[in-house]
Amino acid sequence: MVKPIAASNESPWILRHPTPVLAGTHALTIAQLAPNALTNVFAQAKSKHCHPPEPFLSDVQNQTPPSAADFRKAMGQFPTGVCVVAIEAQTGGIAAMTINSFVSVSLEPLLVCWSLHNDSGRFEMFAKAPRFSISILASNQSEQAAAYASRAEHTPRESDFERASDGLPVLAGALASFACSAFGNHTAGDHTMILGEVTGISGAMDGAGAALGFHRGEFVSVPES
Ligand SMILES: Cc1cc2nc3c(=O)[nH]c(=O)nc-3n(C[C@H](O)[C@H](O)[C@H](O)COP(=O)(O)O)c2cc1C
Repeated sequence: MVKPIAASNESPWILRHPTPVLAGTHALTIAQLAPNALTNVFAQAKSKHCHPPEPFLSDVQNQTPPSAADFRKAMGQFPTGVCVVAIEAQTGGIAAMTINSFVSVSLEPLLVCWSLHNDSGRFEMFAKAPRFSISILASNQSEQAAAYASRAEHTPRESDFERASDGLPVLAGALASFACSAFGNHTAGDHTMILGEVTGISGAMDGAGAALGFHRGEFVSVPES
């Protein structure tokens, strides 16, 4: 049994091997938290009701390489937003894909990134697109999220999209959308990280509207606070 360090300046980290692991989380991944997030984490770590699951902890202890299934399950504890990437396909018409790997990368220049599976049937199409849009879905857009995550059906409904002035398709009704120019791709394992320079932003800049989230393999609503 691994115990949190009990010192006067209590740390929420359990020291195991060279890698500190956060105590009291539902799943353990090697994570960095912003300093202000630590206040809540301190309280959580001290709660006796909150213990990491034993099997996973012993994996950390034994340094058994985690399986992809374990990784997927642990990452499922991390709630994300849901986005739709849309492009004008080289063959004409819209191509759209549901993703949750969207992250902001840089302010100068404005850069975002998403990860595309190398096995995607439309890898070339998305990886080589000179322009793409990324839209953050509202909580009432789970139907679109499911539709554009399907391997079977890839024919987006024109009515789901609006066109930017340059013709770029952008999901209608999204909380916010980013028009991007390709900034570079980086292969990372079985995915390719696609960087985009943000050239336009549209949507609810006042932060109104509940967001669609993805947590533990399910779509969830992230209500307005
Ligand atoms: C919530 C959610 C998030 C997803 N995130 C990604 C992602 O970040 N990158 C990716 O390549 N596929 C992601 N997918 C899977 C794609 O949506 C799906 O594989 C694709 O649309 C299937 O078509 P394809 O064969 O052309 O890849 C996600 C699916 C769901 C439901």
